[in-house]
Amino acid sequence: MSDQLIIFDTTLRDGEQSPGASMTREEKLRIARQLERMRVDVIEAGFAAASNGDFESVQAIAQAVRESTICSLARANENDIRRAGEAVTPAARGRIHTFIATSPIHMEKKLRMQPDQVVEQAVKAIRWARQFTDDVEFSAEDAGRSEIDFLCRIFEAVIAAGAKTINVPDTVGYNVPEQFAHTIRTLIERIPNADRVVWSVHCHNDLGLAVANSLAAVMAGARQVECTVNGLGERAGNASLEEVVMAVRTRRDIFGCDTRIDTTQIVPASKLVSGITGFPVQPNKAIVGANAFAHESGIHQDGVLKHRETYEIMRAEDVGWTANKLVLGKHSGRNAFRSRLQELGIVIGSEEQLNHAFTRFKALADKKHEIFDEDLQALVSDETSPHELEHFRLLASRFHSETGEIPQAALTLAIGGEEKSAASSGSGPVDAAFRAIEQLAESGTELLLYSVNAITTGTDAQGEVTVRLAKDGKVVNGQGADTDIIVASAKAYLNALNKLHTKFDKLNPQL
Ligand code: KIV
Ligand code: ZN
Repeated sequence: MSDQLIIFDTTLRDGEQSPGASMTREEKLRIARQLERMRVDVIEAGFAAASNGDFESVQAIAQAVRESTICSLARANENDIRRAGEAVTPAARGRIHTFIATSPIHMEKKLRMQPDQVVEQAVKAIRWARQFTDDVEFSAEDAGRSEIDFLCRIFEAVIAAGAKTINVPDTVGYNVPEQFAHTIRTLIERIPNADRVVWSVHCHNDLGLAVANSLAAVMAGARQVECTVNGLGERAGNASLEEVVMAVRTRRDIFGCDTRIDTTQIVPASKLVSGITGFPVQPNKAIVGANAFAHESGIHQDGVLKHRETYEIMRAEDVGWTANKLVLGKHSGRNAFRSRLQELGIVIGSEEQLNHAFTRFKALADKKHEIFDEDLQALVSDETSPHELEHFRLLASRFHSETGEIPQAALTLAIGGEEKSAASSGSGPVDAAFRAIEQLAESGTELLLYSVNAITTGTDAQGEVTVRLAKDGKVVNGQGADTDIIVASAKAYLNALNKLHTKFDKLNPQL
């Protein structure tokens, strides 16, 4: 059995299915580049047939990323598979991941198909997919509630048809570790051609067991785990990449395998995904939570100071927790700025965008003397969409807040290139700013979430604001960063409005 555990990241596909986590193409590209830097083996970049936007995102990632295999999900029908195949064609290595449900409840109530028809459709799907690539993965959706005899039958048939990876999803997070391990072991033992494929698992976290189930499956012979950064995903999420990777690395003695992951890229990936989706990471979250390596009790602190391993099984620096590095200051030049962005793996499309970002960097350095990597990440995230594509843009703002007075905001926006101003009061300056924006934009959206985080330490830190807006069933996240959190809030609101303005509808693959 191979001693390499393949890490298949589905942050951009299953993770994006979390309500409110939808991302733009530029945001997906930034995450994909970070996943590549982390040395993820397979990136599931999306579900190409869901919408034109999804197709373009998968294709753009397939063009940009060279080191990881790029995969698109596809239902087991000819159209989905063709779209997936076309989208991954530019990839150095492309994979099609096709699926059909196999549990009695899904086959009868959702697909309205007989088991024989499901097997036939699955086999056809593999043959269609093999016309585009040899790297075809098959998933039996809701395998966790499927009958073992039926799973053996369908898996044997799709392996014979040319599938190279067989994925066993616990779609509804119903399994427990011992049972799930038993399922994987039985499949590998009973299916005659089981040795021709990589066995994979995909666990959801409805009972908080996604990582435990994935690791139990690894002990039983699975050699691919499907997971997401920060455990993002449908409902309670998927198995968290960082926990799976660090469990296997830290307890290699138990698992007998390891991943290719550069673990120092884990925390940067976590921060990037959290910033883009607006899903905060709980402080006590394993590996990537702010307190994951903090020792509060005197006894623990004393022990760690005397000998680190008394209370620590991993080193914070090995997962990417480094002190904020001072990188640039107000005297830094354009070349230093450009090369630091390159070191951080940030690609700025055009020279014009770089010039604009540099001007904003200088303005920030005037207000805030120490510029950290996190500040640069926040600053350039605004630069990835050229201004001409921004329907709403903040031109000027004035806020007033005083004890005993009603807070006021006055804003000037560019809306579709036309300059418009409005003023409003509110229960606080942020509320007043949002009301002023709404007077002008008349978007009629519902505000679902508003959150502020300090990007770095210190009272001169930039505040990073996330705003989640909903309209007509579409949910988007907007981000904005500034040393003035009211300005950051207005930028985040406008960023969300811009996304609503350009968003496509999409299908949910699990419907
Ligand atoms: O949870 C699930 O079953 C899935 C499949 C489409 C792999 O996400
Ligand atoms: Zn899933």
